[in-house]
Amino acid sequence: MLGGMLLIVGYTVVTGISPLPSTRLGQELVIAALPAELEGTVIEAGSGWGGLARAVGRRCPRARVIGYELSPLPWLFACLLQWIRPVPNVEFRRRDLRQVSFRDARAVVCYLHLEAIRELEPRWRRELPAGALVVSNTFRIPGWQPCAVHRPPVRLDAPVYLYRIPRACRARLDVCG
Ligand SMILES: C[S@@+](CC[C@H](N)C(=O)[O-])C[C@H]1O[C@@H](n2cnc3c(N)ncnc32)[C@H](O)[C@@H]1O
Repeated sequence: MLGGMLLIVGYTVVTGISPLPSTRLGQELVIAALPAELEGTVIEAGSGWGGLARAVGRRCPRARVIGYELSPLPWLFACLLQWIRPVPNVEFRRRDLRQVSFRDARAVVCYLHLEAIRELEPRWRRELPAGALVVSNTFRIPGWQPCAVHRPPVRLDAPVYLYRIPRACRARLDVCG
């Protein structure tokens, strides 16, 4: 028990964020931002205990959802959940996001912190194909203009930001393609 807690705390220090899951409302807002007919690979960047990735998998049955998570216990929990009650188009991989390629992703979903987003943003800009979606729970991507902001009805919850990689120019993300 204590070992598990120490492991979670240790990886919180390494990643800079605890494996706090999205709230039910946060999940619903993320889901609402994604078209149900989405195909191809959807990456959940920092999938924690797996609840959001599984909800995305159910929302987009034609997509293949890959949740990347570094912290071992949440990752193991998500894998166990998948084993017990599988969502067929979802898988979890224990990997550092900084080593993950986003080249094949049709969409990225995340609930991270500003520093991690700042670090990943240039890679998303370079690697994500035109038309790809990025859905960020709570945090805006600095310098990007969202296509849509899904605001919760209650002020206590945070908004969800939807971005689309423009078709024409990827140097500046200030238009929706
Ligand atoms: C706030 S939690 C969100 C969990 C889940 N996405 C959700 O919304 O329910 C953020 C997760 O991102 C993971 N994370 C942060 N930086 C990471 C990195 N570089 N590589 C892999 N996972 C990372 C953390 O371990 C944590 O579990």
